Amino acid sequence: MIPGKGMAQNMTIEIINHSKHPARITNYSTSRYVDANHMEQEWDHVWRKSWLLAGLESDVQNPGDYFVFDMGREQILVTRGQSGAVQGFYNVCQHRGNRLVNDERGHAVNFRCAYHAWTYNTDGELKIIPYKERFADGVPREERALRKVHTDIWDGFVFVNLSENPEPLLDFLGPVVEHLAPYRFCNMQLVADQTVHHQCNWKAVVDNFSELYHVDFLHPQHKRMVDCCNDTVHLFPNGHTGLAVPGATVNPRFPIPHEPTDIQSADLKSLGLDPADFNGRVLEIREAIQKRKRQVGDDMGFDYSGFSDEQLSDVWQYNLFPNIILSFTPEHCWVMRPRPHPTDPQQCYFDKMSLLLFSSNHGDAGFGPGRRARQSAAMPAGEGRPDRDVFDHQAIIDGEKTMTDTIDQDIELLGGVQAGMASQGFETVWLNDDEMRVQHFHNELDQLIDSV
Ligand code: FES
Ligand SMILES: [Fe+2]
Repeated sequence: MIPGKGMAQNMTIEIINHSKHPARITNYSTSRYVDANHMEQEWDHVWRKSWLLAGLESDVQNPGDYFVFDMGREQILVTRGQSGAVQGFYNVCQHRGNRLVNDERGHAVNFRCAYHAWTYNTDGELKIIPYKERFADGVPREERALRKVHTDIWDGFVFVNLSENPEPLLDFLGPVVEHLAPYRFCNMQLVADQTVHHQCNWKAVVDNFSELYHVDFLHPQHKRMVDCCNDTVHLFPNGHTGLAVPGATVNPRFPIPHEPTDIQSADLKSLGLDPADFNGRVLEIREAIQKRKRQVGDDMGFDYSGFSDEQLSDVWQYNLFPNIILSFTPEHCWVMRPRPHPTDPQQCYFDKMSLLLFSSNHGDAGFGPGRRARQSAAMPAGEGRPDRDVFDHQAIIDGEKTMTDTIDQDIELLGGVQAGMASQGFETVWLNDDEMRVQHFHNELDQLIDSV
């Protein structure tokens, strides 16, 4: 072992086009995690007005494909209609309000309501009204079509917006789109789909994925793969944030090992490099992996031409306001999404969709985290879409389910955070610079709620 750099930290902060919401540390109050009134304000000013990630475009690949998206008290039906367009509708029959579609996803020619059999096509048009002569005033079919919501697609992700007249999705995402352009998430394949019913407010999950301060303590295993001291933080307009963490390296807050760690060794081997060649040179592995990917990428069926050197080795995590957390490398992406409970601010649903990029040559799954995720994924390459696995957070605590060791650690902890937020012995949080993304997210939330 040789000594590390002690507690040196070189976090870089980039505030991008940020005149609208200056970053500040305001120590917001904890009532927002437990208060029903705050939950109602979030519904009116955040959920009903923001672009929301509804699901994957790959789930509506062909005309007639559909899926439903649960968002608090609403459920949105997303279809690819016969016209070929992806559209979103409230999943509500316009006769007497029954929920129209009960399956999570599927393929249909028509949607027939179970109550009185009003039938709509996948473009939302009302096509069949049984015994229509019994409606003395007739039925205004156009008026009684499924009620539409705004829908747009970015890089394989389907977004919906429940407001009347939203700004364009790309304007809302702003500079994030350009930052993430090389990754091409739309080319990745879903290999695992999980939802955990959690006993905390949805914002506790966003907060947790907005800072690295806790990583050394809650996730000590990360010292084998990433350098959390030399991260770059981005604060974007509209409450979005970004983070770049050097990967294929070790955490210099801890002693630097003589030999590559198990994670570094696995990554080196997957690229045809011998870990023993890096004994005593562990801090050179990151650059070696960048170079090696450029050398062998084409042969192995991975196009790295659009990526910077840093992107080839590093782990990025971008949070898109309000509730989308993307954690990714060129070869994989975890799409994480805490959704509010319909009525209880102290519960949420937390989705994790695991996407992998497969080689264009032989269907193998990438390098680094992508390869490791692939090895533990439920889905072999080329097979159909995995079913969504829905479980309670207790199943994670009991070891019956896992969303990876790291996320399991977070989930197990967050119940305790929620309990603290509900305590009369705790009124405001107290944030440090490392938690600037947390504050940036809450600033945007406050801006939306207070500006009304
Ligand atoms: S509520 Fe759907 S047909 Fe009556
Ligand atoms: Fe964590």
